[in-house]
Amino acid sequence: MDNPLRSPILKGLEEYQNKSKLRFHMPGHKGTLPEEFNALAENLYSFDVTELDDTDDLYYPVSFLAESLNDLKKDRKSKESFYLVNGSTVGILSSVMGLLDPGDKILIESGCHKSVHNAVKLGRLKKVVLEQPSHKKGFPLPASEEKIFEILEEDKDIKMVFLTRPNYYGYASDIEKLAAYCSERGIYTIIDEAHGSHFVYSSLFPKSAVESGCSISINSFHKTMPSFTQTAVLNIGSLNEEDIQRVRSMLLMLQTSSPSFLFIASLDLSFRYMQKYKEKFLSLKKMIDLFLRKLENNIHISAEMDSEKDFTRILLYPKGNVIDMLSYLEKNGIYAEMHDENTIVLISTILDEERDFNRLYNTIENYKRSPSISSPQNKIHDNIGLPFLECEGKELLEDIYIYPPGSLYLEKGTILEKKHLVELAKFRKQKIRLHKSVSKNDDLLYVNIDK
Ligand SMILES: Cc1ncc(COP(=O)(O)O)c(C=O)c1O
Repeated sequence: MDNPLRSPILKGLEEYQNKSKLRFHMPGHKGTLPEEFNALAENLYSFDVTELDDTDDLYYPVSFLAESLNDLKKDRKSKESFYLVNGSTVGILSSVMGLLDPGDKILIESGCHKSVHNAVKLGRLKKVVLEQPSHKKGFPLPASEEKIFEILEEDKDIKMVFLTRPNYYGYASDIEKLAAYCSERGIYTIIDEAHGSHFVYSSLFPKSAVESGCSISINSFHKTMPSFTQTAVLNIGSLNEEDIQRVRSMLLMLQTSSPSFLFIASLDLSFRYMQKYKEKFLSLKKMIDLFLRKLENNIHISAEMDSEKDFTRILLYPKGNVIDMLSYLEKNGIYAEMHDENTIVLISTILDEERDFNRLYNTIENYKRSPSISSPQNKIHDNIGLPFLECEGKELLEDIYIYPPGSLYLEKGTILEKKHLVELAKFRKQKIRLHKSVSKNDDLLYVNIDK
């Protein structure tokens, strides 16, 4: 690669590019440029413009942006849709903070994305946490509608139900009855549909949140569609005009005042591309079904077809050590989206091809355990934090999220018990990444040293 300015970023990206042969992670374009995007790719610099008389303004669209948004609205079957250039994160913050006032009560799931917890904090809201059932492999599943009805019947002060659907593992529960129940009682239903942007394109998927009658849904186009990282949309389902304005005002406060036309163009091209190729979901399903069938008697990995789940989210359960399998796949240039203790999660999109699944299958077939990458050093100095093994009984002064997917693991204020420290050590060993709100070093925690 030509790198005359010796940029470490270019160097780092090039190193990844050289290693990565097969991406089962986001963004949904999988590093392949669809030919319909050629004009964008070839004009990156000349298309990077600002709001001028001859262009348009994302927040006050009158010409080509207005036309594009109108088409987006039809694509999403929404009352109105907004392009987001700060990810689904800004859509989540704007929906929650736009519609609720300080002190209001919101029902959230224990495994929701960190942006939901941040919206609760920034909006000074009261949260009621919905505990989720677990899959037999240990990851969280969506709570049933009945469970949510029970909570809403008991607590009439709840003003908003916030759900993630589908979840990171592809599970999506029915929400039509819930949406109708909430709408009758003036309770907002906001659906973090970051992982379900593709639901509208095929009857192989559950109905989208907007089609199910919810107030708002938020889609990260970059996760499962060929759109640039950081691009997303917010869709209005059933909301009155005043509420739409409240969300829009919050969006204008939180988003950048210089939205990138490159991002917006990539969003626009993405949904048109999906409309054009939506039939590909049928062939993708066939390829995934065949791949899973071939794995039925595999000695290294088990995987099952589960009709309850979005089929494009592939869950692999290594029979041995998860990290050994991941390192082996990575050594062979195959990268997964995320993993936990028992499960490797792969994202597949209509940009994947038969040869990709063959390559993945053959690599798994030829699995040979090799020692995983060297274990992390213990003592690295940082100006904030205490080595976590010394933190038993101390009060945690930061939030800790598991990333990906970004769900809350320990909340600020938790008194750390031995089990937490054992679990943290286990996460380190399993190479499960943690995002912390203060300390940067993986081995240190920001705690109250007097407690
Ligand atoms: C369930 C869920 N919601 C929201 C987000 C935030 O999306 P974005 O990265 O587009 O801001 C993520 C990102 O990982 C996510 O997994």
